[in-house]
This record gives sequence, C-alpha cells and structure tokens, in this order.
Amino acid sequence: MEVIIRPNEDDASRLVAKIIARELRARPQLVLGLATGRTMETVYDKLACLHRDEGLDFSLCRTFNLDEYIGLSRDDPHSYRHYMNEHLFARVNIDQRNTHLPNGMATDVKAECKHYEHLIHDCGGIDVQLLGIGRSGHIGFNEPLSAMRSRTRDKALTPETIAQNAPLFGGDLSKVPRRAITMGVGTILECGRCIVLATGAEKAAIVAKAVEGPITSTITATAMQLHAHCTVVVDEAAASKLKNTDYYRWIFDNEPEWQEFRR
Ligand code: GLP
Repeated sequence: MEVIIRPNEDDASRLVAKIIARELRARPQLVLGLATGRTMETVYDKLACLHRDEGLDFSLCRTFNLDEYIGLSRDDPHSYRHYMNEHLFARVNIDQRNTHLPNGMATDVKAECKHYEHLIHDCGGIDVQLLGIGRSGHIGFNEPLSAMRSRTRDKALTPETIAQNAPLFGGDLSKVPRRAITMGVGTILECGRCIVLATGAEKAAIVAKAVEGPITSTITATAMQLHAHCTVVVDEAAASKLKNTDYYRWIFDNEPEWQEFRR
C-alpha cells in the first residue's frame, strides 16, 4: 500500500483522475471498477474534462460499479446507475453497453449477484478499482463483519450508512433503501489495482484505522492492506489522524513512479 497526501480535495481528485487516465491510455480496453458517493463527483468531473480537453478515449473501456441499491430502478434519480450516467457516462465517449451495475430491481437477487460475478470474470477481471470509504469503514456496501472472502451479494445497510447517505435522498432517512447489492471484499481484492480516495476531516478517523489499524472485518477498508497494489489518496484534512505521514510524503517525493504526478 502507498499513501499519497495532497493539499486539498481538488488536488487529490485530480491525482486520482490522472492515475486512471494513465491506465486507460496504456490499455484502452481497461476494465475499470467504479464507485459512487460525493467524494467521486470531482474525480468524474476531472475525467470528463480530460475527455473534452485532451481526448481521453473511453470507447473501448468497460466498467463495473461496486454496488447498487435494491428497489431502485435505473431511471430513479437516486439510483447509482443514474448517478453514473449524470456524472460520467453521459459526459464521455463510453459505450453504454460496456457499463455495468448490479440490477437493483432483479426479482431473483441471488441470481443477479451470480450473474454479476460471471460478467466480471468474462471480461477478464477488473484491472483498476476505484474506491471510497464510508463512515462505517465500508468499501462498496461491505458493512461491518463482511467476510474478507465475500462475493457479490445483497447486504443490509447499517443505520450509520443510511444516515450518511440520507442527504442524497433529501435528508429523509425513510427514503434510503435498506439493502443493496455489492461486490464482496473478496471480489474487490481480486482486482489488479485499487485506488482509494478519501477527502475531508470527517474521514480522518476512519482513514487512520483503514491504513494503520489492524486488519478486521469490522472495518472492511482495512482489507486494502492485503492488496498487492493499492494506492490511497487523501487530502490533508483526511490525513490529519495518520501517524506516519513523513514516511508517506518521502515515498511520494522520491519514487520514480510518481515523478510525473509531482508537478
Ligand atoms: C456509499 C458507497 C460507497 C462510498 C461511500 C462514501 O456508501 N456505497 O462505495 O465509498 O458512499 O460516500 P461519500 O463519498 O459520499 O462519503
């Protein structure tokens, strides 16, 4: 794992967009895992700008989102499909047929979860997975006690997660779905590379636990410590409770891989 600290949210999300752009240029058929949430909006905006200004090409890219609410149709303005269309897919030259999210309206949820796993497998697996961190420490919707080997399945959301996501439902807790389909921790750990983005002071405590705390299924973001190629990008506010920041900064300032990103 490596931790990159940027001065603010804008710089942190620009760096993440640049990493994804570099991966996409190197491999136009990239299988890209995507995340939702407010943190990702700036990343998608920057990717859309890179498409508009520099011709970043998504035409062969295939995407798999981490999760989707159960009970919301793809046209529902609160669905993650709607979120993705609005923030990214409609703004770049991606083929909609190459974009995948679990179907939250599936009548047979178990079959849908199995189908999603097969789709990922048939695409050759996810090359790069983008991840945020929920306040409960979840990745995707892998709430506390999700098994490290869990696969795509339906999951009940914790009261904390429901409260965290309520502002996106007009602040009305009763409108937030109680369940979601999510890639499992095991599914996520199989991707080629993870990029985790967390910004803002409210993420500082959970970032410190995820990066420097013991690995535990009560905080599924700690599973990132098990991944062979994981980059955690944070702004100063989200980094404020980390202990080894001097070391992380030294790595970023010295590793040749990051040279083009230091400018
Ligand atoms: C939801 C998503 C997570 C995301 C989290 C963080 O719960 N399922 O994948 O990481 O939101 O959201 P935000 O970026 O709004 O803090």
